[in-house]
Amino acid sequence: MIVLGIESSCDETAAALVVNGSRILSSEVASQIAVHHRYGGVVPELASRKHMEAIVPVVKAAFKTSGVRYGEIGGIAVTQGPGLTGSLLVGFSFVKSFAFALNLPMVGVNHLEGHINSLFLGTNPPPFPFVALLASGGHTSIYHVRSYTEITQMGQTRDDAAGEAFDKVAKMLGLGYPGGVVIDRLARTGDPGRIVFPRTFLDKSTFDFSFSGLKTAVKRHVQKTGNKYEDQIPDIVAGFQESVVDVLSYKVIRAAKEMRCDHLALVGGVAANSRLRERVEQDAALQGLQVHIPSLDLCGDNAAMIAAAGYHYLIDGNQSDMTEDVYSRLPRF
Ligand code: KG4
Ligand code: ZN
Repeated sequence: MIVLGIESSCDETAAALVVNGSRILSSEVASQIAVHHRYGGVVPELASRKHMEAIVPVVKAAFKTSGVRYGEIGGIAVTQGPGLTGSLLVGFSFVKSFAFALNLPMVGVNHLEGHINSLFLGTNPPPFPFVALLASGGHTSIYHVRSYTEITQMGQTRDDAAGEAFDKVAKMLGLGYPGGVVIDRLARTGDPGRIVFPRTFLDKSTFDFSFSGLKTAVKRHVQKTGNKYEDQIPDIVAGFQESVVDVLSYKVIRAAKEMRCDHLALVGGVAANSRLRERVEQDAALQGLQVHIPSLDLCGDNAAMIAAAGYHYLIDGNQSDMTEDVYSRLPRF
């Protein structure tokens, strides 16, 4: 079954065509980074307007690059939440009309479940059951994944998400938005041991996270250092990144061991972080665990992962009806 996936929960408008939840025929992403860059973060009102402009061209491009015709698709999957309400509504309303016009089933997908399904689009999908760390701009959670649709949350952040911490620290240091990629690159030139920032909850048995104290610690360091901080930027970001990576790596590995899973996975925008990928691979190898991480283009928001997640509902006959609405919070699992 070919499924059309649509994603518009934050600052990417995306459409993809995916066969049987695993083979990508096309995956188009229109990024709004250029629009939000100067504000240092996503401006919701601008985001929904840009989604309105991009949605039809992006869907057309997904059909054109794949060569698939409308009549060949078996269903449509769309991000229903969590995310920015105005942005979600653009994709969701588009899909309602498109599904109605083509007389196709549609299914609303949880964006976080989409990120987990990005694992099945690559060459190294994990076998069930496995433990997954989802780290993105809006969420940081650990899940026990028993099947495509049976996913239990083991812990989550109590305040900022890991990606949000990267973005806020980058903004604080005047490095621009989004901050993750910039910090990832700059940290390679810094000394991660020169400035040691706190590792919140590292010693606790919980699988929850907290990153707002770390952000405040970086802020205090910058205030204390005064103008001289600019010379220290590579060391500051390397020290900050090392603190985030330490906590994420330790917790996901402990979760896998507690659940007796030999396989663990990293998903979401922060899974693109080169230091996190390297550290988790190293730490997991020492414990005899296998690591699964999607390719860089599938870590960030995309619609192929939404099509993959939706496929498993559609083949079971689960679909959304036209009266359903988007949800900004509260994932369904
Ligand atoms: O999954 P995603 O594309 O969107 C959300 O669902 O939030 O994640 C975006 C987040 C941003 O906070 C961005 O700064 C972060 O992922 N990110 C990174 C890297 N690439 C993107 N964080 C650290 N290192 C990276 N290389
Ligand atoms: Zn995401």
